[in-house]
Amino acid sequence: MQITNDKNQLNSDPITFGKTNPMKNPVFDRRSIRKYTSQQIEKEQLDLLVGAAMFAPSAGNQQPWQFVIVDKRDVLDELILSGPYTSALKTAQAAIIVCADMERVTREGFWIQDCSMAGHNIMLEAYNLGLGSVWIGCYPREDRMANVARTLRLPSFAIPLTIIAIGYPDETKERPDRIDPARIHYNSW
Ligand SMILES: Cc1cc2nc3c(=O)[nH]c(=O)nc-3n(C[C@H](O)[C@H](O)[C@H](O)COP(=O)(O)O)c2cc1C
Repeated sequence: MQITNDKNQLNSDPITFGKTNPMKNPVFDRRSIRKYTSQQIEKEQLDLLVGAAMFAPSAGNQQPWQFVIVDKRDVLDELILSGPYTSALKTAQAAIIVCADMERVTREGFWIQDCSMAGHNIMLEAYNLGLGSVWIGCYPREDRMANVARTLRLPSFAIPLTIIAIGYPDETKERPDRIDPARIHYNSW
């Protein structure tokens, strides 16, 4: 995979860059993948994904995260029952549950952003490794959080933000047309 950092391309046509740039780039070409092959994921790769998560920026560098890696079918099956939009877990080979560790929060209120950054790093690194992933929303839905906490036996200070389903892609998705110049404001709205 070739990752572009060619400034000339950006300079030539910044608005249509996301639509027309033919080079693969994780930010533009990662898509939510919800169907996976039966190929198993190496433990080293799962560790790498969590490692990528730990490189995310966080408020005051508080790093208020904890990760639960699930690679057992029976646990994945139980997580399917945790909420309404969990179908990706049917064929997922693994999932990483990104949790906030409220005992590590030093900058009140910023943990959602911090843990979201960590989760996004997981998805971008998954793309880099040829894996597909999708973010399954957990927080702030109380019922989903309670179900996930019960299944994974989370301690009371851990809040599950998301279940990220992971596997080798069994579907392909084109880069959508998303860049909307009308939403870009310079210096004031
Ligand atoms: C906060 C959040 C919650 C989401 N919840 C779910 C979910 O519960 N189940 C699911 O299949 N996808 C979920 N998604 C994935 C979105 O549907 C997906 O990102 C969106 O449709 C854009 O598609 P893309 O990721 O391919 O760019 C969620 C994404 C975010 C950011």
